[in-house]
Amino acid sequence: MYPFSKSISNLRSSEIRDLLKLATRPDIISFAGGMPNNNIFPVDDVNEIYNNLNPELKKIAFQYGPTAGFPKLLDNLKNFLREKGLPVDKNKLMITTGSTQAINVLTKEFVDPGDYIITEKPCFIGALSSFRSYEAKIESIPVLNDGINLELLEKKLDSLPVTPKLIYLTPNFHNPAGITYSKQKRKDLLKLLGGRGIIMIEDDAYANLYFDEEMREMSRPMKCEEPDNVTICYTGSFSKILGPGLRLGWLLVSNKIFEKSELIKQAMDACSPNFTQIIASEFLEKGKLEPYLEFLRKDYFERKELTQKALEKYMPDYVKWNEPRGGFYYWCEMPVGYDATDVMSISIQKGAVFVSGKTFDPAGVKNNNFRLSYSNMSKEQIDEGIKIIAEAIKEYTRKKR
Ligand SMILES: Cc1ncc(COP(=O)(O)O)c(C=O)c1O
Repeated sequence: MYPFSKSISNLRSSEIRDLLKLATRPDIISFAGGMPNNNIFPVDDVNEIYNNLNPELKKIAFQYGPTAGFPKLLDNLKNFLREKGLPVDKNKLMITTGSTQAINVLTKEFVDPGDYIITEKPCFIGALSSFRSYEAKIESIPVLNDGINLELLEKKLDSLPVTPKLIYLTPNFHNPAGITYSKQKRKDLLKLLGGRGIIMIEDDAYANLYFDEEMREMSRPMKCEEPDNVTICYTGSFSKILGPGLRLGWLLVSNKIFEKSELIKQAMDACSPNFTQIIASEFLEKGKLEPYLEFLRKDYFERKELTQKALEKYMPDYVKWNEPRGGFYYWCEMPVGYDATDVMSISIQKGAVFVSGKTFDPAGVKNNNFRLSYSNMSKEQIDEGIKIIAEAIKEYTRKKR
């Protein structure tokens, strides 16, 4: 046995990672990974950007860069975020290696082993892994259709022996729950957290992927309010709006938090890739992001519509779901006592895969839910894939009786 550290003994391979391996089998229709379809990346635009880069910039692309980010990207991203109402001038912006790194940096900054972190239930697995790797005690609060259950959150906050260090939330187009916090919920949440000294991580990885005007309005980040009595660390990403392969995310935080974040990032990787930062910067500067986002919103809406139609056509009436209004995910619920992992093995044999609910349960138990991501397969496969999953559920039901 190797003398592994205590902190990594908390980490286990997630079903989702193991499944992603399966998802590459060409005959499987995968609703598992939350990633874009390869055919929608703006390859031609990026080709044009690279070919027309000034030769000096091409050389700089191969170099190390400043820890906080390539300065031109920071400027261009600030303009983009400022337009969304984010307080970029009162805070500091840092480019991170994916928003996964932003979450890691913040956890390292605030959390000692044994400290409490509040999460939603269900919760993005990448954040859970980060929290576990810093040996945090995770307390999770269920999400409802309009956001976290505030009554339970208040009870939890009042009953914990010490103030949690962090609360980690994904208010927009939640992964995996598919929901978006209502305006009222955001207001009440800020009121509840006000003055308690808990730092909020507002993860906005799916920002801009709303399907209608109402959702554009509703998905305005809480960070835009910049309340005096709640510290909000805002994280975002290019992964879902340009490409996860760029490995670029960001962190918008107060000056004091930024100073420490920069030191932590320096120790982690010195800087994020200059190469992709230059591409992203030019993409923004040439005004290519907004039209691309418009295309993405239409594409994901179409995918959602196809999924919705197929779910209505094939699913037995004991399977429930909430129709997303942005983002990538359906969160489906089977009756209590159903095991989504068992359903999944039947489904895989038949040719479709998804992710079972316990992957996103901080306690790793609750498993009558599953997540369907409609972002990755070809649109033509959606109907057939949902049909297969519905058949797997029905077969499981017959065997269970
Ligand atoms: C809610 C949420 N946050 C953060 C991320 C991390 O994205 P990245 O590290 O690629 O920026 C993801 C990716 O799926 C996500 O779903």
